[in-house]
Amino acid sequence: MGKLVIDGGERISGEICVQGAKNAVLPILAATVMADGISVIQNCPKLRDVDKTTLVLERLGSKVVRDGNTVTVDTRDMYDCEICEDLMREMRSSIIFLGAIISRCKKAVVSMPGGCPIGLRPIDLHLKALRQMGVEIREEHGYIKCYASKLTGGNIHLDFPSVGATENIMLAAVCADGTTTISNAAREPEIVDLGNFLNKMGARVSGVGTSVITIEGVKKLQSVEYTIMPDRIVAATYLAASAITGGEICLTKVNPQDMGAMLHVLSEMGVRLRCEKDRITQLAPKRLKSIHTVRTMPYPGFPTDIQSPFMSLAAMAKGTSVFIENIFENRFQHVDELTRMGADIKVEGRSAVVRGVNSLEGANVVARELRGGAALVVAALAASGTTVITGTEFIDRGYENIEKYLSDCGAKIRRG
Ligand code: UD1
Repeated sequence: MGKLVIDGGERISGEICVQGAKNAVLPILAATVMADGISVIQNCPKLRDVDKTTLVLERLGSKVVRDGNTVTVDTRDMYDCEICEDLMREMRSSIIFLGAIISRCKKAVVSMPGGCPIGLRPIDLHLKALRQMGVEIREEHGYIKCYASKLTGGNIHLDFPSVGATENIMLAAVCADGTTTISNAAREPEIVDLGNFLNKMGARVSGVGTSVITIEGVKKLQSVEYTIMPDRIVAATYLAASAITGGEICLTKVNPQDMGAMLHVLSEMGVRLRCEKDRITQLAPKRLKSIHTVRTMPYPGFPTDIQSPFMSLAAMAKGTSVFIENIFENRFQHVDELTRMGADIKVEGRSAVVRGVNSLEGANVVARELRGGAALVVAALAASGTTVITGTEFIDRGYENIEKYLSDCGAKIRRG
């Protein structure tokens, strides 16, 4: 098992060029299968989840070449429409391939998805919508088998604005017969990135970024070149890493307009922020202030993905903060580990009450999921003494070269 060893207490100051967004690159790579040609995707972060996605593409018969942060996908000889169990278990977002494969092959077989252990994570909304579009779905022996002689557009209402379900419907709808309208669609910036990519391929998608998305089916898509948007969750994690250590940081290649709720919380905690078009400069005080209440919500609300790294900030802030997790029911797994480091946190159902302490202490802790792992890194940077974090494979799912970015900004961090 990989380890990160962090000697806390150094100010995190400097400049970080933010990586491409994991949650945008995964559906966009899946979408490449819908065109018969060579797609060139720029700004692809080097992450385990991206590697797994390219492996899925290869197993389907595509040729994938990575050169630095550019991934080229040649789908001309794609021959398979089945994603095997081992890959589906490792990465829940492989479910995004369902809409794309069924669109190209009129048939798709995937096993029930796995992923970070942060909650139940059902896919009922995905399947209900696909059935509505004419897909016959059989769930047998842990596999989902889908057939469609043709896909038909229609009005689809989502009971919850699920990111993955919205993406899957968009993918299935772009080449469907007629027009599809998704109401109560997710509005996340990554949905906008997918919509822009699909439109560049020749799709007719409008309304992305609002809760009603309209997709007029087209006959054919073409392969294109596209640059992935910056990762807003990684950006906010580095802001947190600097804020907890009283540092001064500048992020480049970032979209502050996508980060409103997170930047609002940071400024309430006492940091000074300057936002320009693709740049954020942050100066943190010696000690942060507590935040009254943080409620995770679908975009443009406060993202569930940054709840845990910001809880590390609250753990050392002056005063008491409350976090309410509304999206995933099991996303407080970092709490026990932060408590080992001296944090004072009480969890009651979906709420966590965090009483800020004067200092945290280094300890041996375990990352149990991606963002919870990032929260431990943030806390360790400010803790006294040495923290050893195991379970780093979770952190590597979403953060490219985290130890390099942080050590370039003054952190004492190394792989153990
Ligand atoms: C995506 C992101 C993840 C983020 C999450 C919420 C990717 C690869 N992952 O995950 O980082 O934390 O959005 O912003 O983009 N739900 C159902 N039925 C469904 C689908 C979802 O009940 O069919 C529920 C889930 O259990 C959860 C909520 O809806 O409680 C949100 O899930 P969803 O928005 O679908 O998240 P993901 O797309 O899995």
